[in-house]
Amino acid sequence: MHLTIRQLQVFEATARLLSFRKAADELHLSQPAVSMQIKQLEENVGLPLFEKFGKQIYLTEAGQEIYHYSRSIGQLLTEADEVINGLKGAHGGRLSISVTSTTNYFILALLGTFHKRFPGVTITLDVTNRKTLLEQLSQNQVDLVVMGCPPEGADLEAGAFMKNPLVVIAAPGHALAKQTNIPLQRLEDEVFLTRERGSGTRGAIERFFTQHGVKLTTGMEIASNEAIKQSVQAGLGLGLLSRDMLDMELELGKLVILDVEDFPIVRYWYVTHRKGKRLSTVAQAFKHFLLEESNQLLHDPPSSKGVRAL
Ligand code: PGA
Repeated sequence: MHLTIRQLQVFEATARLLSFRKAADELHLSQPAVSMQIKQLEENVGLPLFEKFGKQIYLTEAGQEIYHYSRSIGQLLTEADEVINGLKGAHGGRLSISVTSTTNYFILALLGTFHKRFPGVTITLDVTNRKTLLEQLSQNQVDLVVMGCPPEGADLEAGAFMKNPLVVIAAPGHALAKQTNIPLQRLEDEVFLTRERGSGTRGAIERFFTQHGVKLTTGMEIASNEAIKQSVQAGLGLGLLSRDMLDMELELGKLVILDVEDFPIVRYWYVTHRKGKRLSTVAQAFKHFLLEESNQLLHDPPSSKGVRAL
């Protein structure tokens, strides 16, 4: 195949937006120019890349394959550009990071401090769950990821920078709220509001309960930490969440942490990237900042003192 980078760039925008017109607008090209690039790419590939039903265009199977590679190639070109800018000593540049939804309770404060130090840097932040982060890493769509423990054998480089204790929360009026040393087994009588499948928090909790031979009953699956907190406050069940996101509710007395034996479950936050990835100067600086400074800036939450590692 004799593809040109320009063809791939035009194809990537068209495939992402599923519209020749929107791609033309984004790339400041005319619509016929976009159609021409796609036509030439299809000739080079030897298969159609789009099909049309009514007014809507869709990717063919070959189109989906080329889309996957065009995104990776685009990311590599951006990476090359940033590495070269770094070698030239540029202070600007772009940092693309993705974080699990649980970290947005502290990551924004850290990004704020980092941005004050490097005001010329444009930061792109995506907030999503663990499953999506792993997909983004495997497709090389992001510089750095902040997540719970990355899977072993996934060709990733990861550094732990802060504790992430998971605790059991309840409404203040709950029958267990004032009890101490609640046996783990007692939780079998309770209903939990748990995160969606693919969430790192949920995976860690399921592993913990399985290891301890305790059955966890899920009353409702909720794909949002905020909604879990609200539902627990409303008395719909107990929650299992990171201590990092509970400051306000605990202070206002809207939620309590239950004193359950073997809790908190101690996890860590990791800054992660693909093994062998050439990090731009900015990405290296942010990684270093997280590993060396974030803990002091945010302090260990008091609840993480004296806890046992899982
Ligand atoms: P989650 O990730 O937001 O997907 O639950 C948190 C974690 O990995 O600990």
